[in-house]
Amino acid sequence: MSNSSSLNEFLLLAFADTQELQLLQFALFLGIYLSALLGNGLIITAVACDHHLHTPMYFFLLNLSFLDLGSISVTVPKSMANSLRDTRAISYLGCAAQVFFFFFLFSAEYFLLTVMAYDRYIAICKPLHYGTLMGTGACVRMAVAAWGSGFLYAVLHTANTFSIPFCQGNTVDQFFCEVPQILKLSCLESYLREVGLLVVSLCLAFGCFIFIVLSYVQIFTAVLRIPSEQGRHKAFSMCLPHLAVVSLFISTGLFAYLKPPSISSPALDLVLAVLYSVVPPAVNPLIYSMRNKELKDALRKVIQWVQCQHQ
Ligand SMILES: *[C@@H]1O[C@H](CO)[C@@H](O)[C@H](O)[C@H]1NC(C)=O
Repeated sequence: MSNSSSLNEFLLLAFADTQELQLLQFALFLGIYLSALLGNGLIITAVACDHHLHTPMYFFLLNLSFLDLGSISVTVPKSMANSLRDTRAISYLGCAAQVFFFFFLFSAEYFLLTVMAYDRYIAICKPLHYGTLMGTGACVRMAVAAWGSGFLYAVLHTANTFSIPFCQGNTVDQFFCEVPQILKLSCLESYLREVGLLVVSLCLAFGCFIFIVLSYVQIFTAVLRIPSEQGRHKAFSMCLPHLAVVSLFISTGLFAYLKPPSISSPALDLVLAVLYSVVPPAVNPLIYSMRNKELKDALRKVIQWVQCQHQ
């Protein structure tokens, strides 16, 4: 079909073919998007305003909420706009921007979750050294490392993916520009470089995964040795939300990318993509605020303050 020089837009997968179902999808995405904005916005306000929450753990949570807000804004608004306008098109530049920001924000989030596991490990297994190991300087360096490596990574993937000539049309079988689907459009063989890069990324991701698992093995061994029931409960409530968020992030991602090709169908791929790209940013604030008393108190204060302003 067309070659790369004449390719100036891609066509995304629509969720439905009738106008009514498209409106339904629009309403559903709008609901999810608004709840993500509200949840993450509340956490950002609570952590920024309550000085009880000015500790490394909550600063990292602040970072996580910003990343969640960003990552859900990469895919959902465009898909909503398209279903409202009854079109499937995304410009070449728009597609490249989606790939870039998607990689940037999701890999930064994954690196940040690894840093947060380290933070919980130090807090629970080496509490006496927490102050020295997790000082302001060290925390800022770790946060910068997470954002920086996400950025670098995104530059590499985007440059690599879009330097490949495309010769299989311009229909992306996903509701946003997802790299594996874009690679399917490339001329045979030239995509091997990007596949190589993806394999390297998977190894890196696996390294982080092992690090997180080892941290949690140490954390659980330490927590189970705490003699008092109350102490155990407190220690668990400090790390279970993080563990839940990590598990959700990794399990949905793994399932989407490592499922056997035999059970692949466009509908299943679509549902899985929603699961790993849309659901975690929307439910992370919920998971974090559900079990954490300090955060709940801070959120209550924010809500009371807002109510006072309206009276
Ligand atoms: C991210 O975390 C670092 C380290 O705790 C903190 O200094 C910084 O203010 C946070 N940045 C954002 C945007 O949340």
